[in-house]
Formats: sequence, C-alpha cells, structure tokens
Amino acid sequence: MTRGPVDATTTDAWKRLTELKAGFEPDLRSWFADDPGRASRFTYAAGDLHVDLSKELLTDDLLTALLALAEQVGLEERRDAMLAGEHINVTEDRAVLHTALRLPADASLVVDGTDVVPEVHETLEKMYAFADRVRSGEWVGVTGERIRTVVNIGIGGSDLGPVMAYEALEPFRHPEIECRFISNIDPTDAGQKLKGLDPATTLFVVSSKTFSTLETLTNARLSRSWLLEQLGDGVDSAEAVKKHFVAVSTALDKVEEFGIDPDNAFGFWDWVGGRYSVDSAIGTTLAIAIGRERFAEFLGGFHAIDRHFAETPLAQNVPALMGLLNVWYVNFLDAQTHAVLPYSQLMHRFPAYLQQLTMESNGKSVRWDGTAVTTDTGEVFWGEPGTNGQHAFYQLIHQGTRLIPADFIAFANPAYPLVDGDADGADVHELFLANFFAQTQALAFGKTEEQVRAEGTTGSVVNARVFSGNRPTASIMAPELTPGVLGQLIALYEHITFTQGVVWGIDSFDQWGVELGKQLAQQISPAVSGDASTARQQDTSTQALIAYYREKRT
Ligand code: F6P
Repeated sequence: MTRGPVDATTTDAWKRLTELKAGFEPDLRSWFADDPGRASRFTYAAGDLHVDLSKELLTDDLLTALLALAEQVGLEERRDAMLAGEHINVTEDRAVLHTALRLPADASLVVDGTDVVPEVHETLEKMYAFADRVRSGEWVGVTGERIRTVVNIGIGGSDLGPVMAYEALEPFRHPEIECRFISNIDPTDAGQKLKGLDPATTLFVVSSKTFSTLETLTNARLSRSWLLEQLGDGVDSAEAVKKHFVAVSTALDKVEEFGIDPDNAFGFWDWVGGRYSVDSAIGTTLAIAIGRERFAEFLGGFHAIDRHFAETPLAQNVPALMGLLNVWYVNFLDAQTHAVLPYSQLMHRFPAYLQQLTMESNGKSVRWDGTAVTTDTGEVFWGEPGTNGQHAFYQLIHQGTRLIPADFIAFANPAYPLVDGDADGADVHELFLANFFAQTQALAFGKTEEQVRAEGTTGSVVNARVFSGNRPTASIMAPELTPGVLGQLIALYEHITFTQGVVWGIDSFDQWGVELGKQLAQQISPAVSGDASTARQQDTSTQALIAYYREKRT
C-alpha cells in the first residue's frame, strides 16, 4: 500500500519552486535567442504524439525542481499503485483501472484475487460481435428491418466520450448508420433527437454505469414510450424493447428491471470511473459506428500512452511533465484556467470532454485522507477549435491581464484535403496550420513597442498594439487524426490529470461534489409540480423562482 498523501507545500522541491518563482522573469525571446537547442531539448515523443513544450514558461532549473517535486510527492509510486489495481480511489474504496481496459489479451492483471484481462476481452468480444451484427444488417428490429440509426442515451462520462469520439472519427464511420446522442433531461434534447426517426430502424443504447441516473432513466423511458407509440398497436411491446434497446452498465439487475434482455446488456466494472469509460462497453455506440478493427486501434492508442506513462523516466515522460507544468502555472503563476485549442474541426467536442475528465477529477478541496488541501487545485479547462476561437476569445489570451496556458493540438494531414481553386490551388490545410503556428509564435514572442513604432504607428495607440508575449503554450502534433491517435490524446490527458491530482494529494476518481444538487432536485421536484408544503420549505429566493415558473407556465 502507498503512503498517505504528502502535503506538497512542505517538500524541499516546493520551497525551491517558491524561490524560483520569486526571481522568475519569463523571457521566451531571449530564452530562444540564447539557446539554439531549446526547441529540441524541450520537445518530446509519446506514441505518435510530437509534443513541443519549448514555448512553455519552462527553464532547466524549473524542470529540475518539478521533477524533484514529482519524486517527493511519490508520483511514480502512486502511478504504480494505480496500474497494479490498488484501491487508490480511497473515498469509494475502489481500484482505478481504466488502463486495464486497453491491455492486450495476452496480458494479465490480478486485482482483488481475479485476473481482470480475460473478463475485459470477453466483454469486448461481446460488444464487437453485437456491433458486427448491427453494422452488417444481421441485427434487425421488430419489423425485420435493419438498423439505420443508433441513439445513445447517457450523460457525463456515458455521453461525452462516445459523442466526442463519434465526431472526431467521422471519416471512419459506417456510411449507412447515423448515431445520435440524448443526454440532457431538458425534453428538447430527446424531442430534437427523436424527430424524424423511423422507429422500425432505430436502436437505443442506454448507457449508464449506475443505471440510476435521473436524466438517463427519464430519457430511456421517454424513448421507450416513443418507440412503442410510433410502432403502433400491432407490435408486441416486450419483443420491441428487446429488439430496439440494449444497455451498458455495471448494474445488470437494474437493466433487466427496465425490460432490457440481459443478453443484450454489456457490463463493465466499478473500477472504471464514468469519465474514464469511453474505452469500456460505454463505447458500444462508437464501436457500432467505427467497427471492431478501428475500435481496437483506438484502444491500442490508449495503451501506447499508458506504457509511455508507466515506463518512461519522468524527465521524458510527457503526461508527467505536462501535469507538473500545470501545477507550476496553477500554484506559482496563479493561472485560473487552461485552454485546449484543437486545430481540427473534428475535435470540436474534445474540450467539453476534457472538462469532465479534468474538473470532475481535480475539483476538490480535501485530500484523499480527508484533510484540507493547502494549495489551489483543479483549474478550469475550456476551449474551442481553432481558427474559430481566434475570432472570439484569443484577444484575452494575447493581451488580457490573466495568464492562460494553452494546449494547441494539430494534425499534419487533413481529413478533407481541399484546395482553393480561386487562390492558385492553395492547400487550405496549410493555411489552417499556418494559423496554429502563428498563434503559438505570437503568444510566445509578442510584439514590442519598437516593432509597433517601426511599422509607423505613433501616439497612444502604440501601447494597445503591443503584445507582451511570454504566454505559454504546448504544441501537440500527430501525423493524422486516426482512432489510435485519438486514444493517445485521451490517455495523455488522463495521465496529466492523474499527475496533478497526486501532487495535490487528492482523490481524482471520486465525484462527491455532484451529489448535493441531485438530492435537492429530487426534493424540490414536488414543489415545482405544485406541492405547496414542499415549496414553503425552500429558501425565499427559490420559493419566488418556483412561483414565477408556476405563474408563467401556460
Ligand atoms: O453525476 C456525475 C456522474 O456520476 C458522472 O461521474 C458520470 O459520468 C455521470 O454522472 C453518469 O453516470 P452514469 O453512467 O452512472 O449514468
């Protein structure tokens, strides 16, 4: 068993970082000018990922101190404990084994007395076999027609991963099967997603680890009613549910209670956190969309980065280095947020996916032993694809008063290689990438007053046109966005998140902070529907809001 959480602020490395901060005057212009080896020294490889950290606010001294911090908080020890299946999710007394989901079939990992690898591959095979049947048209609905639309019903980790990956891997999708995703309990979501669907060719995948999430069960019931109503009277309801509903859950008893055939249920394990589950059977919808070979490549990508994280010395270990840098930004340079900016339209849901991964994991105020943290923890992650963001919020990143570290992600090869015939056949992907390179350059090196004046600008507008530079960025590139590369990117961020959590001594795998709102929603619900006595028990603001709703609802 590992030792208890270390208070990072009491370590010698933290003291050293505090000293470095006191005299810290970032100067990327000089750092690059004086050190021709900087770019290559701070560029790393992990799987297919080419990760350039040279435009980060990183120096050799700082790197030494951050690596010492990793050692003094026991990062490697805790990583090894996670990979070995120790119960490092202390507040829920669970192992944390999303990495086992992508182990090859010939591996072995004994957890709590059982080798989990055969079970993982048995479930994968069941999911793949089902996906094959849907893709080939062998799986038919109650009227004998093949499936044309798959509707994934889930929320949080049971939605964000599958929808993000479905969008990102659009070029790899089955051409004749469309997937839709219902997550929100706002009835608009189900209303819109069900609109225009043919019930006879629609399959619902109800994805819920616990099978008790209000949103998902409500949407599953709505969808079941919709299906039966749309199919009409001549159809056997039990048979229709059997043919048009499958489930993914760790609670297979509850799946059966809902009326879904246990043969059509895909299980997973309590050692897979919701936000770490896209590579489990929670990926069933994705597996239908991209097929078994592509899904296996996706898992292979995760595994490549798991091995990198497990085996590479920390000085070259990309997730560890990026996690440690994030600690530097949050705890020493007061960064409140972190931008993730994919230069890839296909990755447009990646920042949203990362929000759950990072913020549900590290948005904590107590350590895993219940003691209060003594530093800031999880920063706010956000972002949008480039170049759209350039015309929206980049102004603040370039010239605002806050430090916003940003990760840029781009691919050498485009999914759609289009040329602009009216502009001498310009390769549009090259224009796109030029923007990515330009942004990271502008953020790093800025524009001096002398440069502004040399362009002929005078007067008070000069200062408005100056860019300070020294705005840190990571540049992450890969040859192209394939299932394997997507798996690598997700695993990279999983392990960055883990690294930060270890430094802060928190349990990155629980999520107690989502519970209170869920409980209160259940309590308040009768008041919204008109129960006066429940309404009177609410605070005066809530009472007035409910009253406003009841008055205006037509
Ligand atoms: O409420 C938060 C949460 O528990 C997430 O951690 C999880 O991904 C999501 O709800 C959905 O949970 P489930 O898969 O059990 O429906």
